[in-house]
Amino acid sequence: PRHLLTLDGLPFDALDALLTRAQAFADGHYDRRALDGIAVCTLFFEPSTRTRMSFTLAAQRLGADVLNFDASTSSTRKGETALDTLKNLEAMGVRGFVIRHHEDGAVAALSQHVELGTALVNAGDGRSAHPTQGLLDMLTLRQAKGHDFSKLKVAIVGDVKHSRVARSDLQALRTLGTGEIRVCGPASLLPNDGTLDGCVVSHDLDAALDGVDAAMMLRLQRERMEEGLVASLDDYHREFGLTAQRLTRAAPDAVVMHPGPINRGVEITDEVADGPQSLILRQVSNGVAVRMAVLEALLRG
Ligand code: CP
Repeated sequence: PRHLLTLDGLPFDALDALLTRAQAFADGHYDRRALDGIAVCTLFFEPSTRTRMSFTLAAQRLGADVLNFDASTSSTRKGETALDTLKNLEAMGVRGFVIRHHEDGAVAALSQHVELGTALVNAGDGRSAHPTQGLLDMLTLRQAKGHDFSKLKVAIVGDVKHSRVARSDLQALRTLGTGEIRVCGPASLLPNDGTLDGCVVSHDLDAALDGVDAAMMLRLQRERMEEGLVASLDDYHREFGLTAQRLTRAAPDAVVMHPGPINRGVEITDEVADGPQSLILRQVSNGVAVRMAVLEALLRG
């Protein structure tokens, strides 16, 4: 495909090939001139630390010319649309765009208006998709648990309703044949639109963690939330926060993941986030490798 907009519908072989290539990059095997002469722009209309910085580093490691666009200091402030912004950067010769936007479907909509040689990567649109986060989460799980997911029990915990990360993770976990996918959170924060089809849904974190191989914790997305969906942060933590005590219910070698940024003391305690079972910073390292694989696949040759 020309663009990476979602993991929905991405066949197993394509997903597997990206993860295999990303592992080679993670192992340090890459050509620093692979994207020589190609200009890539990170076009972010929402804040980011990990995604934007790791895409920048990924593009630089492959030899691309990298531009960073920050909506808060750009002509977006004067009312310029995202499409006009993109078309102007495209006119300068930019061929790869890494785009984050608060609206569902915004990146797919932009993709209808670009030149044939231009590639778009969705770096997170509204609640819909964050495909490179899904890929880096799968690479991290593979490294920890091997390539056969058929016996794995994975729990996704928290604010699934507002989470593009959860949607991309669920799509990738299904494509990779995960044995059992559990989803746990308060009823007010779980979607009822078919997203959770085939998952074991529960509102009891102790039950959801029982014997799992991986707990994927989600950030409480207060910026996307209407008032009243969660009674209080203390209540949320008491019912759905991952503590060291609770983690003892999971398999002894279970791993803990979180896409970041973390609300420490809300969805996860410091002890767990910084503890021996946490892969949170490994996820971030893998993000660079996965983004190198995606940029190479879309922009090289
Ligand atoms: N996980 C993630 O997308 O983090 P940022 O919002 O900091 O990019």
